[in-house]
Amino acid sequence: MQIKKMKMEYFYSLFLFIIFTCNNLHITNSQPNTTGYTCSTNQTTYPCQTYVYYRPFSPNYLNLASIGDLFSVSRLMISRPSNINISSVDAPLQPNQSLFVPIQCSCNRVNTSVVISYAPLNHTIQGGDTFYQLSIGQFGNLTTFQSVEAVNPTLIATDLDVGVNAVFPIFCKCPNETLRQNGVSFLISYVFQPSDNISRIASLFNSTTQAIFDVNGNNIQDFDTVFVPVSQLPLLSQPAPGATSPPPAPSGSGNSTQGDDRKGAVIGLSVGLAICGLLLLILIIWLLCVYKQYGKRKGEGKYGGEGKHQKFEKGKKGEEVNLLADVSDCLDKYKVYRVDDLIEATDDFDERYVIEGSVYRASIDDELYAIKKMNWNASEELKILQKVNHGNLVKLDGFCIDHEEATCYLVYEYVENGSLHSWLHGNQREKLSWKNRLTIAIDVANGLQYIHEHTRPKVVHKDIKSSNILLDSNMRAKIANFGLAKSGCNAITMHIVGTQGYIAPEYLADGVVSTKIDIFAFGVVLLELISGREAVDKEGKVLWEDADKILEGKEDKKMKRVKDWMDSSLLRESLSMESVASVMAVAVACLHRDPSRRPSMVDIVYTLCKSDDFSFDVSDEGLSPRHLVAR
Ligand SMILES: *[C@@H]1O[C@H](CO)[C@@H](O)[C@H](O)[C@H]1NC(C)=O
Ligand SMILES: *[C@@H]1O[C@H](CO)[C@@H](O)[C@H](O)[C@H]1NC(C)=O
Ligand SMILES: *[C@@H]1O[C@H](CO)[C@@H](O)[C@H](O)[C@H]1NC(C)=O
Ligand SMILES: *[C@@H]1O[C@H](CO)[C@@H](O)[C@H](O)[C@H]1NC(C)=O
Ligand SMILES: *[C@@H]1O[C@H](CO)[C@@H](O)[C@H](O)[C@H]1NC(C)=O
Ligand SMILES: *[C@@H]1O[C@H](CO)[C@@H](O)[C@H](O)[C@H]1NC(C)=O
Ligand SMILES: *[C@@H]1O[C@H](CO)[C@@H](O)[C@H](O)[C@H]1NC(C)=O
Ligand SMILES: *[C@@H]1O[C@H](CO)[C@@H](O)[C@H](O)[C@H]1NC(C)=O
Ligand SMILES: *[C@@H]1O[C@H](CO)[C@@H](O)[C@H](O)[C@H]1NC(C)=O
Ligand SMILES: *[C@@H]1O[C@H](CO)[C@@H](O)[C@H](O)[C@H]1NC(C)=O
Ligand SMILES: *[C@@H]1O[C@H](CO)[C@@H](O)[C@H](O)[C@H]1NC(C)=O
Repeated sequence: MQIKKMKMEYFYSLFLFIIFTCNNLHITNSQPNTTGYTCSTNQTTYPCQTYVYYRPFSPNYLNLASIGDLFSVSRLMISRPSNINISSVDAPLQPNQSLFVPIQCSCNRVNTSVVISYAPLNHTIQGGDTFYQLSIGQFGNLTTFQSVEAVNPTLIATDLDVGVNAVFPIFCKCPNETLRQNGVSFLISYVFQPSDNISRIASLFNSTTQAIFDVNGNNIQDFDTVFVPVSQLPLLSQPAPGATSPPPAPSGSGNSTQGDDRKGAVIGLSVGLAICGLLLLILIIWLLCVYKQYGKRKGEGKYGGEGKHQKFEKGKKGEEVNLLADVSDCLDKYKVYRVDDLIEATDDFDERYVIEGSVYRASIDDELYAIKKMNWNASEELKILQKVNHGNLVKLDGFCIDHEEATCYLVYEYVENGSLHSWLHGNQREKLSWKNRLTIAIDVANGLQYIHEHTRPKVVHKDIKSSNILLDSNMRAKIANFGLAKSGCNAITMHIVGTQGYIAPEYLADGVVSTKIDIFAFGVVLLELISGREAVDKEGKVLWEDADKILEGKEDKKMKRVKDWMDSSLLRESLSMESVASVMAVAVACLHRDPSRRPSMVDIVYTLCKSDDFSFDVSDEGLSPRHLVAR
């Protein structure tokens, strides 16, 4: 069933691809370079880390937090390169104050004729936004609306829906080999102002006019992006703290005092979120009523069935319509259970049925399910789960809302063999073989690769750990518990979630949410699989701390250290130490302190499959080890 669906999807994308290519053949490339700055995909210096020069402006962009949100970086990631004292990261900025914002610059093929370098920034469209206004406003002419249109071929510039995600290509360049050899480390993106001249820019950045002309040519127009070659980031001069001369208008409708600006914003945000949450829930309830009646009218079974849902009228009120669309999607896909059925199936949530915490085992119509009982905060998990569908992710079957008890239940497929945590660290008499462990690692990696690469917007699980990895009857792994997962553009969080021993250091320090925090946690799971030890030991020492030391030094010493460190139960079976060492190497790479040096899930899947010494088989589903296909 699933395979058939996948094939259909392939055909569909092939179809789209053909249409797309055919369409393109009719158009010749004769357009000005407002689309962006060309690059060559075989230039080895891409991608690179670089900076844009950003000018804060009133009213909404006079604090580091909102600029950070715009560029998906943390406040500290802006304050450090911008030479802003850490004690004033929360202080309001002044208009036109100089800032350096870090970006990741890459060379991207937009279509057959256009290859441009930019840093892709996700931005959720809000009411009244246009590509043009965002480009010349928030993004300070660091991109053009023509480029935004080219990079988002599926969005129609004149008809943007509120809530859709658009990629804004921030113009940037990486220095080529020649420039690098001449000591250029960055090409800083700077928007040329009408009052500027090149010599002023050169002195501002400690570069030379000649060097700037060499890179940009000498036909620089107002509001063009100029790439300033520098060997090191110049020290920006910042206004003295306390010298807050122009009182910037606070954002939003309410007035707040200068000092409390940030606090006010946070409170405002929480209130806003609370209201949004409430709205969403009211909508869910209302929809449920409508849906149930609709189901009854169609004379469907007791769960309401999976009938097509009514189309909601579009274009009335942006925000609201979008929420409706979100939730109605959920309803379309899931069964809606009745509270009574769940109570009956679990003997009124009796302790005997507890699997773990607030998760219960239930038998409904002779099928086993796992029911998670939650206090009204399921909407995020529902929204994430409706987007994902993969064999290595625990499947949501349906849900139920109990209005009287203010409780929400999520009904999942039942995964027979419990958590990996209990297999590794519990009292299981049977131990996992190396082959089992490797297969589990590859399963989890596949599941993570799916949520990282194939969902839009990207989903970050945020709580990968052995107790959130479940094993089915064939000891195949599934990732569970998307309760903390996050999708979309909001890359910085103020409160840290996750589990001690699995949390990536940069997330703890800066609150930066990226797929790399899942990679880190996956590295810890690999260590658990190899060593059979817990992520945090009884003294509170984290497992990953000394992991990299094991692989230091000469080959024979290394092997001995790996052997000493690994789970003693594995020594009883004959296994290839190369395989163990190579998984260990993957784990150490995942645990790199610098998130940008951690491998991507694609690389990890590839390397893990290689360390599995099984034969490979190219089936039409792609490259997969043969033993994995036989389920
Ligand atoms: C922009 O276009 C002009 C002429 O159309 C061309 O000479 C120039 O090299 C282009 N610049 C870049 C960076 O592609
Ligand atoms: C890129 O590679 C192709 C073929 O490998 C070569 O023809 C072309 O000149 C290269 N471009 C640059 C800018 O090096
Ligand atoms: C940051 O500001 C604090 C208080 O204003 C001051 O004591 C400290 O020396 C400053 N640090 C730097 C690096 O300027
Ligand atoms: C900011 O800079 C721009 C261009 O340099 C200028 O037009 C504008 O008046 C400045 N705004 C403030 C508040 O200094
Ligand atoms: C961007 O450029 C336009 C003209 O193309 C100009 O009107 C606008 O003020 C510029 N925006 C900023 C932030 O400099
Ligand atoms: C590529 O994209 C640009 C910008 O949207 C467009 O002008 C051009 O016609 C496209 N070229 C082809 C071959 O599709
Ligand atoms: C560039 O601007 C600076 C001040 O902004 C001025 O002193 C200098 O004379 C200008 N240079 C040229 C060549 O216009
Ligand atoms: C400016 O750059 C030169 C080398 O390009 C360097 O020696 C000098 O220290 C720099 N000055 C400042 C103030 O950064
Ligand atoms: C590297 O970039 C500089 C400045 O853009 C250019 O003059 C030079 O030709 C480039 N070198 C190579 C090998 O492409
Ligand atoms: C908000 O500020 C405006 C002008 O800055 C002022 O007229 C108004 O009275 C203030 N409102 C409150 C509630 O402080
Ligand atoms: C923006 O969204 C795309 C697709 O969802 C994703 O691949 C990309 O990583 C996101 N970028 C950031 C900075 O979050």
